[in-house]
Amino acid sequence: MKFQFGVPSFINFGEGCSKDVGQALVGMGVKSVFCVYDMGVKKAGITDNIIAILKDAGLNVTEYDGVLPNPPDTLVEEAAQIAKSANVDAIVAIGGGSAIDCAKAINILLTNPSPINQYDGLGLVKNPTKPLIAIPTTAGTASEVTGFSIVTDTTVLKKMVIGGPFVGATMAFADPLLTVGMPPAITASTGMDALTHAIEAYYSVIASPLTDVNALKGISLIYGSLEEATNNGSNIQARTDMLLGSMVAGIAFNSAVLGLAHAIAHPLSVHCGLPHGVANAAVLSYVIEYNAVEAPEKQKILGKQWA
Ligand SMILES: NC(=O)c1ccc[n+]([C@@H]2O[C@H](COP(=O)([O-])OP(=O)(O)OC[C@H]3O[C@@H](n4cnc5c(N)ncnc54)[C@H](O)[C@@H]3O)[C@@H](O)[C@H]2O)c1
Ligand SMILES: [Fe+2]
Repeated sequence: MKFQFGVPSFINFGEGCSKDVGQALVGMGVKSVFCVYDMGVKKAGITDNIIAILKDAGLNVTEYDGVLPNPPDTLVEEAAQIAKSANVDAIVAIGGGSAIDCAKAINILLTNPSPINQYDGLGLVKNPTKPLIAIPTTAGTASEVTGFSIVTDTTVLKKMVIGGPFVGATMAFADPLLTVGMPPAITASTGMDALTHAIEAYYSVIASPLTDVNALKGISLIYGSLEEATNNGSNIQARTDMLLGSMVAGIAFNSAVLGLAHAIAHPLSVHCGLPHGVANAAVLSYVIEYNAVEAPEKQKILGKQWA
């Protein structure tokens, strides 16, 4: 047996843990941060609280609120210019995968030359990046624990997958309370992204015992809580299980990578504007049917997760 396994981020998990983010940054010797988020997360009342925590800790904060879904390369370049001018020494991402991936790409450009498009692929980012804190507000992408940043190349209309040792967040603060205000449609679609991660990591031809154990745990947590979290968003246990489920699915796919569902979902997002989770949900059942024939033993074990 031979495999590689890793998680780029140190993980803080649990109700209220995001309150510790200011002190964690101070402990890392950071003085000024670039805070990256989108207007949806601001309207949900999440960013103001976290920015207040950062300022209370004595940090200088520069804000960027312009993140868009399936973040375009042009936006990354624009935000990186602002971060460079502000001379920040760390980045804080607050939001779903779009905000966290955007922050990862901005961070790359703080210590590596533009354009971001030259890093599409694995291991192409050569210079170490600055500390990056990821605070997820969806339970879906697990970008807080993966070494990937997904950015849309607006010239060739393709979702780039930028991966490697300097791409991931340094530290994650996964606080289930921040996901409570997610509307049902976003809870459902981002949750289906997480379920797709776990299933694709399990089927992967480079899966290992360490990715399998996380993938199966992710499937059972998500299967047991997605419906409840969607229908009753204030159920903290369901929100906690979803955030943990998405995170362990991310830990699995960070090393096992993904499969056909994501390969089909990315062009669906770029060409048809579908949210990432919706695109995955649309194709997942067909991919399961296809994979079941190729990997019948794994399919039997998978089936037992929701028997
Ligand atoms: N880096 C990775 O490993 C990885 C893995 C999978 C997907 N992705 C990428 O992540 C992106 C999708 O991220 P996503 O699915 O998290 O969606 P998103 O970040 O685009 O957010 C979707 C919407 O939800 C809103 N929202 C987020 N949290 C909220 C909250 N708590 N309350 C209310 N509204 C909230 C946002 O404002 C936004 O309008 C895609 O670009 C996808 O390709 C990255
Ligand atoms: Fe995904």
